Amino acid sequence: MKMRFLGLVVCLVLWTLHSEGSGGKLTAVDPETNMNVSEIISYWGFPSEEYLVETEDGYILCLNRIPHGRKNHSDKGFIAFSQIPELAKRIKMFFALGPVASVAFCTSPMAKLGRLPDHLIKDLFGDKEFLPQSAFLKWLGTHVCTHVILKELCGNLCFLLCGFNERNLNMSRVDVYTTHSPAGTSVQNMLHWSQAVKFQKFQAFDWGSSAKNYFHYNQSYPPTYNVKDMLVPTAVWSGGHDWLADVYDVNILLTQITNLVFHESIPEWEHLDFIWGLDAPWRLYNKIINLMRKYQ
Ligand SMILES: *[C@@H]1O[C@H](CO)[C@@H](O)[C@H](O)[C@H]1NC(C)=O
Ligand SMILES: *[C@@H]1O[C@H](CO)[C@@H](O)[C@H](O)[C@H]1NC(C)=O
Ligand SMILES: *[C@@H]1O[C@H](CO)[C@@H](O)[C@H](O)[C@H]1NC(C)=O
Ligand SMILES: *[C@@H]1O[C@H](CO)[C@@H](O)[C@H](O)[C@H]1NC(C)=O
Repeated sequence: MKMRFLGLVVCLVLWTLHSEGSGGKLTAVDPETNMNVSEIISYWGFPSEEYLVETEDGYILCLNRIPHGRKNHSDKGFIAFSQIPELAKRIKMFFALGPVASVAFCTSPMAKLGRLPDHLIKDLFGDKEFLPQSAFLKWLGTHVCTHVILKELCGNLCFLLCGFNERNLNMSRVDVYTTHSPAGTSVQNMLHWSQAVKFQKFQAFDWGSSAKNYFHYNQSYPPTYNVKDMLVPTAVWSGGHDWLADVYDVNILLTQITNLVFHESIPEWEHLDFIWGLDAPWRLYNKIINLMRKYQ
């Protein structure tokens, strides 16, 4: 897969050089390509808060919070949600968009990646950050994606891992999307993902030996995450073409959610339509806001 990615990048770079040479036109760079999440939220007129949170088992997460709507208190806003167990008791409702808990039927290239042996994943990606938001990806977004003719290709590039639904994507924002994603995760998180693919179990990270698991969990095997124990009211949306949260996997998950208050499947959506779909505001966000009002 890495080779395929490199091949694409080489093609893109060659094409850029070629079109620059032959007087290819550049469009203006969207200022959002150089902003971080907090800055984008402020740019659109919303108040923004930023928190670094460390979970008990060592995950460090950056959370962005929009404490209220724009200054004039109109009730428009966008949705931020988090999934940190310690906060569960403070969460009024959990909105799960294309949730992935099991990956038995997952068809994304990510699932194939997950089948690689651990040591190979470490050899390929090191042991710190997986697909970080590198200067190179930023360069790719700003220099390659500003060529009108290449926008579609750039769209494909960032959709490689999650699936395609270009017709539902705002093509004039692709440069913003590609400079901000993939945003990176730890290699350890990827190893955890690959364990889910290999063992078909929703459980904590397996440290690889009884002694190590004992050290971390006070038992020789990793503790199972029990979805049934989660009592938070939960609303689920799934996408019919979601490669990551496959319909069959989501259906299994649905049977385990104790307090399911809503479920809807949007047949033609893939994983990224939940955040980037042009029709997301009226097909999804409005319903989320209505549920928030109903259950507040
Ligand atoms: C985002 O930018 C703001 C303003 O420049 C800065 O205060 C903040 O630390 C940045 N956040 C991250 C995660 O880099
Ligand atoms: C309040 O915000 C809404 C949503 O952005 C906007 O349409 C409206 O014009 C704003 N009203 C005032 C008085 O600024
Ligand atoms: C598409 O993105 C551009 C650039 O950010 C924005 O100006 C425009 O309003 C967006 N169009 C839609 C339909 O959201
Ligand atoms: C570890 O597990 C044993 C047996 O289940 C229990 O008695 C003990 O209190 C646990 N220790 C810690 C530190 O949780």
